[in-house]
Amino acid sequence: MDFTSTKTITLTDFIFAEQRKHEGASGTFSNVLLSIALATKIVSRGVNRAGMTQMIGAAGSTNVQGEEVQKLDVYADKVFATTLGRSGEFMAMVSEEREDMFAARMGDSSSEYVIAFDPLDGSSNIDVNVSIGTIFGVYRRLPETEGSSKSNLADFQQPGTEQVAAGYTIYGSSTMFVFTTGDGVNGFTLYPTIGEFILTHRNMQIPDSGSIYSCNEAYFSKWSKGIQQYLKNCKSGDLGNGHTKVSMRYVGSLVADFHRTLLKGGIFLYPGDSKNPNGKLRLLYECAPLAFVVEQAGGRASNGSQRIMELVPEDIHQRTPLYIGSKHNVEAVEASIAEHD
Ligand code: AHG
Ligand code: MN
Ligand code: MN
Repeated sequence: MDFTSTKTITLTDFIFAEQRKHEGASGTFSNVLLSIALATKIVSRGVNRAGMTQMIGAAGSTNVQGEEVQKLDVYADKVFATTLGRSGEFMAMVSEEREDMFAARMGDSSSEYVIAFDPLDGSSNIDVNVSIGTIFGVYRRLPETEGSSKSNLADFQQPGTEQVAAGYTIYGSSTMFVFTTGDGVNGFTLYPTIGEFILTHRNMQIPDSGSIYSCNEAYFSKWSKGIQQYLKNCKSGDLGNGHTKVSMRYVGSLVADFHRTLLKGGIFLYPGDSKNPNGKLRLLYECAPLAFVVEQAGGRASNGSQRIMELVPEDIHQRTPLYIGSKHNVEAVEASIAEHD
């Protein structure tokens, strides 16, 4: 990367250039984005040192989901809570690792936003050195709660269409920060030597259809007829969109499976089943943020019959089936569900 070139755009340049487009902007939204980016830089440092600093392995506790918490999850949760708290821009937060919504440290009546995040996604992959990530979604506080110095659950019970920013960071062969504020999707790669995110993927667009499907087929027998039929079609090379050379890829970290789908096209599926009709993935801090990103990139995200972005969370940890990726692929799954279920 040529840091003397005027073509090299840092995340900071990008955010302030966007701010200048909004006459009279106060800069609070820029501060929201920069504090999220800072938190992911700190988590990235932790992830890359985990092996050396024994942060790999279970923390010995279990979280609200009843899942064994890995040390890095706890660390990432604390980094997000404190770094975002220090910005003063958030009134309250929801974290996958915490049972209830919690007040942001420096949040006060002037804080305009709330944020929901999965501080470390793909925990089961931490100790096998496979890519993991962070996912976040930002909402403006509701008019009825704005100005109050109290956190209000209603601020988190908004449909995904009300997100003002959403995105993810993937801690992989490189650390990438990918986000949208409703005006397209842009990807930034971290240059650790200067500690800056540099714009490397401008205006990301997902292919209209793709030949890679991604799901944990171990659960095949528990899925509905519609899903089973769709996957049988995939295996027979018929994705319903002209693609015949079909591949299956499954990392087991949603962020990694989604990032590949965004770049290469195709579909990621996490269906519900007879035992867990709503599947495993959480609406507020996994599915809705990625749905915002994929729609801004020209793709689609559905629960099998409805746009993920239209679902209103009642419970902050509620789950939803997720079909996300190229428009034609998601439409084909929805059609198969409509026909067979
Ligand atoms: P988290 O580590 O935040 O709990 O998320 C794990 C999720 C998601 O990253 C991934 O797609 C899914 O769990 C994998 O689930 P299975 O192991 O059931 O395939
Ligand atoms: Mn997760
Ligand atoms: Mn997680």
